[in-house]
Amino acid sequence: MRLPPILGFRKFIWGPQMTDTTLLSVEGLCGGYGGEQVLQGVDLSLDAGEIVAVIGRNGVGKSTLMRTLTGLLSSSAGTIRLAGADVSREPANKRALRGIGYIPQGREVFPELTVRENLMVGEVAGQGRTAPDYDMIHRFFPILKERAHQRAGTLSGGQQQQLAIARAMIGQPSMMLLDEPSEGIQPSIINDISRNVRELNASTGVAVLLVEQNLDLIVSMAQRGYVMEKGRIVASLGPDEIISRDAVRRYLTI
Ligand SMILES: Nc1ncnc2c1ncn2[C@@H]1O[C@H](COP(=O)(O)OP(=O)(O)OP(=O)(O)O)[C@@H](O)[C@H]1O
Ligand SMILES: [Mg+2]
Repeated sequence: MRLPPILGFRKFIWGPQMTDTTLLSVEGLCGGYGGEQVLQGVDLSLDAGEIVAVIGRNGVGKSTLMRTLTGLLSSSAGTIRLAGADVSREPANKRALRGIGYIPQGREVFPELTVRENLMVGEVAGQGRTAPDYDMIHRFFPILKERAHQRAGTLSGGQQQQLAIARAMIGQPSMMLLDEPSEGIQPSIINDISRNVRELNASTGVAVLLVEQNLDLIVSMAQRGYVMEKGRIVASLGPDEIISRDAVRRYLTI
């Protein structure tokens, strides 16, 4: 998105920390479940086309953050901006139409629906914005073409993960929220997932906010990262640190 090159005007619209390549900007985000506040003021940003990891131990609030960004959980304070627009109060369906794709932890494909039917569910998010591109999906995930009429529940974990990613990509989002894609996946398949997502990113420009605890996946996929602890971002990892197994391991075991 390009704005007029009037600096003052741009600053006024985007706020002090945003540039015209900022896709997602989160400031002071709070939220949780009923009376239990999990997110304690999260600050982070994602540029168009970036792959950024959010790492942290079990229960620190990573999935809660993802659900709050999608709009499935409402926030109690703070702002979420998408391409400059404040979407903090928008319902999940509107945010999806703006280009947020979500791949939940545990994948949550519809087991009784076929592969093709699961993908059709994802088409809704692109409606009015883009036509579904099945050729693109089948190029990246040939198995989903082969298994189009098979029930999703009969696929392996790795294949279900591909389906969940494809279901989000069929709406051609500008950003994927990818929550622990390695969970319950055989180590030999983790490399494939990493390669798939990096290739999707390179060829479509989709930005990725990746929640992970798997060292191999973080190091091979992310370009930089944030460390989350007790509902807050407590550290940032630059491009050099995020590819260092030792640096990432240190933060995962704190
Ligand atoms: N549906 C829910 N209702 C109430 N509390 C929840 C719910 N889901 C998560 N929580 C609580 O919110 C806190 C953060 O959980 P969350 O699932 O966001 O952590 P996480 O970092 O994603 O952990 P993991 O790495 O195990 O997936 C935990 O204390 C958890 O018990
Ligand atoms: Mg989680």
